[in-house]
Amino acid sequence: MSTDDRGDRAASFDRAAAVYQATRPGYPDEAVRWAVPAEARDVLDLAAGTGKLTQRLVALGWHVVAVEPSDAMRAELTAALPGVEARPGTAEHLDLPDASVDAVTIAQAWHWVDPPVASAEIARVLRPGGSVAPIWNVRDQEHDWVARWTEIVHRGDTLETSYRNPELGDAFTEPEHATFPWTQRLRAADLRTLAASRSHLILLPADQRDALLDEVDRLVATHPDLRGREWIEVPYRTECYRASLR
Ligand SMILES: C[S@@+](CC[C@H](N)C(=O)[O-])C[C@H]1O[C@@H](n2cnc3c(N)ncnc32)[C@H](O)[C@@H]1O
Repeated sequence: MSTDDRGDRAASFDRAAAVYQATRPGYPDEAVRWAVPAEARDVLDLAAGTGKLTQRLVALGWHVVAVEPSDAMRAELTAALPGVEARPGTAEHLDLPDASVDAVTIAQAWHWVDPPVASAEIARVLRPGGSVAPIWNVRDQEHDWVARWTEIVHRGDTLETSYRNPELGDAFTEPEHATFPWTQRLRAADLRTLAASRSHLILLPADQRDALLDEVDRLVATHPDLRGREWIEVPYRTECYRASLR
C-alpha cells in the first residue's frame, strides 16, 4: 500500500491526535523568541495541531489565535489550552480579517501546504511589516539509535516531508535561518508511540503498521543506548526560518 498522497498524509493527523499530543516534541523558548518579534502583539499559530508551539507562544506572553483544520487535533489543543481561541481553517484559507495579526508561526507543517496560495493568504492576514516563521523539529541523525529509528519509521515512505528553505514568494523578504539544538526527555517505551504519530504509519494497514512498531520495540530492547533504560533523551534541532512582509 502506498501512503504517498500528500493530501491524505496532511489529513492523517486527525486519526492520531492523542498519540501526537502524548509524544511529539515541543519547541525551545530560545527558538520561539528568535522566530517571533518581541514587539509583536497578536500571533497566529497556523497548523497549530495539539498546541505544542501554541503553548510556548502563550507562556512567552503573546496573544495567540490558533488555526488548525483537524477537529481531533484542535480538541486536544482546547483541552490543554482552554483560554486560547482555536479556529478551524487551513493555510490556504484562513477565516481571519485582512491585516489582523503581527506574526504567523507554522510549525512542522509548511511541507503540507500549497506554498504560493499559503504565502498569499498569510500575507493577507498580516499587518504591514508583519512576519512569518516556518519551523521544524528535526531529529539528530548523528546518534546511531536515532538513525535506526528513522530508518524503521520511513520504511516504504516515498514522500519528502523534511524541512527546507520555505518558498514564501515575493511578498516576503528572503527567509533568515537559525538552528537550535535541544533534547526531549521521553520514556524509551514511548518511542513506539512517537512512531505511531507519524503520518506514514497512521495511514499504513494495521498489520504493516504493527510490524514496524514491533521493530521499534525490538530496537528499544536491543540497542546499547536504549536497552534497559526507562528514560532517554531524544536529540532534536529546531530549524527556524523567519521573513517579513516587504
Ligand atoms: C505535524 S502536525 C504539526 C502540529 C503543530 N504545529 C506542532 O508543531 O506540533 C501538522 C499539522 O498540520 C495540519 N495541516 C495539514 N495540512 C494543513 C494545511 N493545508 N493548512 C493548515 N494546517 C494543515 C495537520 O492537521 C496537523 O495538525
